[in-house]
Amino acid sequence: TDKTTSAKIEAHDLAARFYHHLLISTEQGKEAYEYIRQRGLDDDIISRFQIGFSPGQSDMLSSLLEKRGFDLGDMEEAGLIGRQESTWDVYDRFRNRVMFPIRDLRGYTVGFGGRVLGTGDPKYLNSPETSIFNKGEILYGMDIAKKSIRKQNTAVLFEGYMDVIAAYRAGVDNGVASLGTSLTKRQAQILRRNAERIIICFDGDNAGQESTEKSAEILEQEGLHVLIAMLPDNNDPDDYIRENGGERFRKEIIDTAVPIMSFKMQALKRNKNLQVEGEKLEYIEEVLKEITTLGRAVERDFYLRQLADEFSLSFEALKQEQYRLYKESR
Ligand code: GTP
Ligand code: MN
Ligand code: MN
Ligand code: MN
Ligand code: MN
Repeated sequence: TDKTTSAKIEAHDLAARFYHHLLISTEQGKEAYEYIRQRGLDDDIISRFQIGFSPGQSDMLSSLLEKRGFDLGDMEEAGLIGRQESTWDVYDRFRNRVMFPIRDLRGYTVGFGGRVLGTGDPKYLNSPETSIFNKGEILYGMDIAKKSIRKQNTAVLFEGYMDVIAAYRAGVDNGVASLGTSLTKRQAQILRRNAERIIICFDGDNAGQESTEKSAEILEQEGLHVLIAMLPDNNDPDDYIRENGGERFRKEIIDTAVPIMSFKMQALKRNKNLQVEGEKLEYIEEVLKEITTLGRAVERDFYLRQLADEFSLSFEALKQEQYRLYKESR
């Protein structure tokens, strides 16, 4: 009902403020604070994203919520606390973690991502799906980025919380992240309502590459223009910014984002030695296969011409071969 919904939202707001306070002004939060500082975040960013800390003690939040008169059953449903099966004792869901409040479009905190300090499993513990937290409908950072996304008519899509935050600090303030899961149609629709262009900037590893292709497809289906910003191997945006600075991130990664076809061509190239004749021909055939998937004749022509130039082949021969592959695939 409406009353329990608003109680759950109020409790999240209280929890976010509580965790933030523990991080920035208590002895208990000192280690977490130092961890975050050492990851390159300053006080402005910490308060902008309301980053917090949940201590190891298991009744920090639950006793506060109880004291403030929240119904513990509601709080369990909201994913803030758990209950021991045998004793029915309540305990805080998040313990000893750096807390990232996740807000909906209106700016209400509806869930948390909690990161271990250093290494541990799971690295991130997120709120469960609840009546106020539908992961497929929320983009982390959207409440902060929305204005800039609209102004630039462009959103940058990242994998992780820390990527959104590091990019913001580097001056890329139109960044959002899906919540550890792959991008959903609903999330793509939310983006479409605010911009026409999306730059996908996922981690430079195999997982990141795969979800780039998947997400690009979903975004294109919603009518968005998709560009891919590529990172060096085994770097994520946060790593890259820490190693190379914000200016290089903007100029060499974000500003050089390429269309999906170029991204795929570069990926196909990576697995081939183009000095070897057989591999060169394989590469050309694989690119032609990709070209057959393009919906627009103008796009197909564009990449056929590029391929023709690159390998000194006739446009007509390539077009013929591409058409043959197209027929074959139907
Ligand atoms: P840092 O190590 O803090 O820089 O995190 P990261 O964002 O680089 O993590 P990674 O690239 O491994 O994962 C990307 C995103 O996936 C994270 O930001 C989380 O949202 C999510 N994720 C990663 N690990 C876990 C996990 O163990 N459990 C859950 N539920 N989500 C995870
Ligand atoms: Mn991971
Ligand atoms: Mn990753
Ligand atoms: Mn990462
Ligand atoms: Mn990272």
